[in-house]
Amino acid sequence: DVKSLIVKLETNKILSKEEFHTLLNHISDEDLLYLRERACITARKHFGNKIYIRGLIEFTNHCKNDCYYCGIRRSNENVHRYRLSEEDILKCADTGYLLGFRTFVLQGGEDGHYTDDYIVTLIKSIKEKYPDCAVTLSIGEKSYDSYKRYFEAGADRYLLRHETANKEHYQKLHPPSLSLDKRIQSLLNLKKIGFQVGAGFMVGSPYQRTENLVEDLLFLKELSPHMVGIGPFIPHHQTPFADKSQGSLRQTLLMLSIIRLMLPNVLLPATTALGTIHPDGREMGILSGANVVMPNLSPTSVRKDYELYDNKICTGDEAAECRYCLERRVNRIGYQLVVDRGDYKLSGN
Ligand code: 5AD
Ligand code: FES
Repeated sequence: DVKSLIVKLETNKILSKEEFHTLLNHISDEDLLYLRERACITARKHFGNKIYIRGLIEFTNHCKNDCYYCGIRRSNENVHRYRLSEEDILKCADTGYLLGFRTFVLQGGEDGHYTDDYIVTLIKSIKEKYPDCAVTLSIGEKSYDSYKRYFEAGADRYLLRHETANKEHYQKLHPPSLSLDKRIQSLLNLKKIGFQVGAGFMVGSPYQRTENLVEDLLFLKELSPHMVGIGPFIPHHQTPFADKSQGSLRQTLLMLSIIRLMLPNVLLPATTALGTIHPDGREMGILSGANVVMPNLSPTSVRKDYELYDNKICTGDEAAECRYCLERRVNRIGYQLVVDRGDYKLSGN
């Protein structure tokens, strides 16, 4: 039965394709509560009641790509496009440092305006000013040599979701200019160079089948990344997927818990998308095994322009300091934010 599959997953940290399929399709509400509890206990075993924070700086919403799900895709002519200067970005880091962030995540569309030289200078400036901080990049697919230059400039981590581990499904979400092979090659390059690497996918993306989620899990187990970013798919009204339905809270929590049991010490954020589909989504994510939150550090003036999906939270003026908001939220459920780089740690079990 399903309960014994959960026990087996916790013990072996893997299930077969068939077993994952059964777990995903047949888990009852009661068994899901049990699974989430085991995942939460696993996270506590590795991280205690500590939650790592990452300051997210969304520095450009220009993008040369045209992913069908994404609000800032090239074809969306209604987006007000912006770019932050190096000075703007350093100001975000200054604010962030005072707020206790020791990781800055530079995220943006694939924007040719920022040359490799520019990115390298930016990384060096941040690392020089804040040598005790980690720099995470989330700027898409680049050549091996570009990645290598970023790493040598001092970047520590790189987030690049694989989006789906199934080729056919990948092409249903992306235009022909993008391919799963290239995406996987990029992830392998990043790993080889020495980055702490984050992969991940959307739960409930259009055309996703249970089989695909199983493939995502097996892919993650094999890649064994340091970080896994997952959140529900949420339609954006100015994309080809405007009329598709949103991923569910239940399935997102289920996937978070499975990933925690499969990769016990992985860095696993409770994402903004999860907080967008339910007012307590991020808290429920933590109670399902997540151990990271990524408060927004972008200037409030640009936040509403970085809308990957509709109704994204933290885009209004009330969200100037997401850090304190999140602190209250995690404290309420018995957790603490920590001032720490929060690096991936190998562990005995
Ligand atoms: N809904 C949920 N997540 C999305 N992303 C992009 N568009 C959407 C959407 N409509 C996610 C992708 C990407 C990350 C930065 O945001 O998985 O990798
Ligand atoms: Fe941004 Fe609460 S975390 S407003």
